[in-house]
Amino acid sequence: MTAETSMPTGTDLLAEIDRLRKERNAVILAHYYQRPEIQDIADFVGDSLDLSRKAAATDADVIAFCGVKFMADTAKILSPGKIVVLPDMDAGCSLEDSCPPEKFKAFREAHPDHIALSYINCSTEVKALSDIIVTSSSAETILSQIPLDQKIIFGPDRHLGGYLSRKLGRDMLLWPGVCIVHEAFSETELMKLKAQHPGAPVAAHPECPPSIIDHADYVGSTSGILKFASEFAGDTLIVATEPHIMHQMEKALPEKTFIGAPGADGNCNCNICPYMALNTMEKLYTALRDLEPRIEIEEGLRVKAKASLDRMLEMAAGTVGKGDLGAR
Ligand code: 13P
Ligand code: SF4
Repeated sequence: MTAETSMPTGTDLLAEIDRLRKERNAVILAHYYQRPEIQDIADFVGDSLDLSRKAAATDADVIAFCGVKFMADTAKILSPGKIVVLPDMDAGCSLEDSCPPEKFKAFREAHPDHIALSYINCSTEVKALSDIIVTSSSAETILSQIPLDQKIIFGPDRHLGGYLSRKLGRDMLLWPGVCIVHEAFSETELMKLKAQHPGAPVAAHPECPPSIIDHADYVGSTSGILKFASEFAGDTLIVATEPHIMHQMEKALPEKTFIGAPGADGNCNCNICPYMALNTMEKLYTALRDLEPRIEIEEGLRVKAKASLDRMLEMAAGTVGKGDLGAR
């Protein structure tokens, strides 16, 4: 046995996860930032919007959510009758951490004429305090449906909010949160990399700061970046988001070269999301075996949070991601 997972030594993880998935009538959902072996065993791989839609629609009894906690919480909010397990309950998010509900509540109360548009990377409590949730793939579609004279609070990601403000010409009050992973890209190192690969476009996630976005040829969600990777004309792409997404690119497009944008020392692992990386095959196996750690949400809170998520799903109805690129 190992202390961490109480897993019998010599367990054939692939076979056991597969057996348990059938036995439990479970669906394994994974985000593109998960380890390659988890992406490969998942029933569905997608961006935050795709995964929310899958969680809302599944007829499985158990959702094994391989992502971070706000994503698994979202699955439970949308599918309260399912058992939702997250392989590692410590898989949090710096954006969620940046926005304590009581401070967000006070911010809202200080601006009563504003509606609150919140990025899905926030706690269930903040979702319950918000009017509409957005993901990076649905934010533009949703914002374009809100009257121009409506005042808006946007949180918790100031970089996504700032990007949307600049692109759509909408002045929004921004919560000052950041993603520690996207914040770690270095403009200086990106310039050096671009010089080494003349003509290679840069695709960036909107969680990146403006110093990176300003050099991007494409800015979009993880599913949008994957779509761009399959469509751009050249043979080399510089990718400014969490590097595990490149697993899908390398599988689907072996003839092209994908290079992760660097951090400050030019060659670090600082752009691997430390929270996403907490999920492992061993922990997925024990989560399916024990149906723990399990997401539980108090019903009154869940219903309030569901209202803002339902609004997202309705308003994003026309948004088609490219999540099926990673589906098995
Ligand atoms: P996507 O919705 O683009 O997949 O982004 C999710 C995310 O924020 C993980 O950092
Ligand atoms: Fe949160 Fe950033 Fe990790 Fe995404 S990459 S889960 S935003 S810390």
